[in-house]
Amino acid sequence: MAYPELIIVPGDKSITHRALLLAGMARGRSMIRGALTSFDARSTGRVLRQLGVEVGPLAGGRPVAVIGRGRFQAPPNALDCGNSGTTARLLLGLLAGHRFRTTVTGDRSLRRRPMRRVTEPLERMGARFSRPAADHLPIEIRGGGLSEIQWPLPVSSAQLKSALLLAGVAGHVRVAVFEPAGLSRDHTERMLAGLGFSVRTQDGWIVLDAGGPVPPFEATIPGDASSAAFLLGAGVIGRRPVSLAGVGQNPTRLGFVSVLRRMGAKIAVAHERQVLGEPVGTIHVEPGALKRTTVRAEEIAGLIDEIPLLAVLAARAEGETRFEEVGELRVKESDRLTQIADNLMALGYQATGTGNTLTVVGSDHPPRGRVVTDGDHRIAMAFAVLGTVPGARIVVDNRACVGVSFPGFFDVLAKIRGAR
Ligand code: S3P
Repeated sequence: MAYPELIIVPGDKSITHRALLLAGMARGRSMIRGALTSFDARSTGRVLRQLGVEVGPLAGGRPVAVIGRGRFQAPPNALDCGNSGTTARLLLGLLAGHRFRTTVTGDRSLRRRPMRRVTEPLERMGARFSRPAADHLPIEIRGGGLSEIQWPLPVSSAQLKSALLLAGVAGHVRVAVFEPAGLSRDHTERMLAGLGFSVRTQDGWIVLDAGGPVPPFEATIPGDASSAAFLLGAGVIGRRPVSLAGVGQNPTRLGFVSVLRRMGAKIAVAHERQVLGEPVGTIHVEPGALKRTTVRAEEIAGLIDEIPLLAVLAARAEGETRFEEVGELRVKESDRLTQIADNLMALGYQATGTGNTLTVVGSDHPPRGRVVTDGDHRIAMAFAVLGTVPGARIVVDNRACVGVSFPGFFDVLAKIRGAR
């Protein structure tokens, strides 16, 4: 068998947002290479421009120059974060450190998502909102004069953790947060440490000391492990191996690899270099049969975005797979718990999404039917992967939404399929 062609996945969405936002806070010119240029990344670029930051075009392949003024300027109109929860939550954190009034909003999906988890602690630090502990966008915020905070998070969430850490950066105050159930992705901590901030973990608390201004920087963004996961999934249930180069291998993002290995998949992860404090390398997967597993509560934070993919792979595995304590899926870009279970059932599988648990019973029948994405990029990509199994006839109702995180996804998937 020929060794598979190496496929490059687009830049990491989480790291792109953080790099753009921190570059926007710096005084001077930063240069970001390999940035994701998806709809969500462009939302971050757009709101930064409204805040007086010069951000070069986010277009395929070209390095992005970001010229900040050291502080944001009051924007002329509301800051529309589109579909991007990361943009909205991290931005609220940064705005909490700025002494002007502005409104943050988003699309229909984002306006449904919970914000009190962010506004409550930011209010405790000294930010003011249109409504106390406001829970849904649009939200008006007036920041400035923050005090330090020590806050146990109600859920393990990188967006929430990062919002508070970035409030600490913008407000020059100490922030300590505690994650209740497993560690969420730690890109913010790594990036801040790389920029010279004092950030450490102490008895389970993540502590950022009060710091100075953000320096301008140069960065190369690793490939997105979550985007890679869909292609690796297509490889496992396909006929030919898949190899992906330049993939971010931060351990807080690779929970899905451990689960796939438990299910019987043969995956090799080769660490090659360190970029921006993040491990990067190649991931290779061989096709093979899968068996059931249980994904436990403490694993969820490390694979939260991969559950749609793992669920469709579970539908091709032998036996019943359980995902425990996955209630957080209900407040993602769609109610993913319901979307996964309903779509699997529509395609002829047995699946339940009740309370905080998702169960999927594997079967080798050819999946046929229509997938309702509710505009959710990860639902679209997961079911498109399932659509690659022999005999499948799956129509995904909204293919364009994959542009939120993975422009060109269908072309790459077709390439992998074509190689069969
Ligand atoms: C993200 C964190 C995750 C993830 C989202 C991106 C981030 O959300 O679902 O796609 O960049 O911080 P939570 O950690 O808030 O669950």
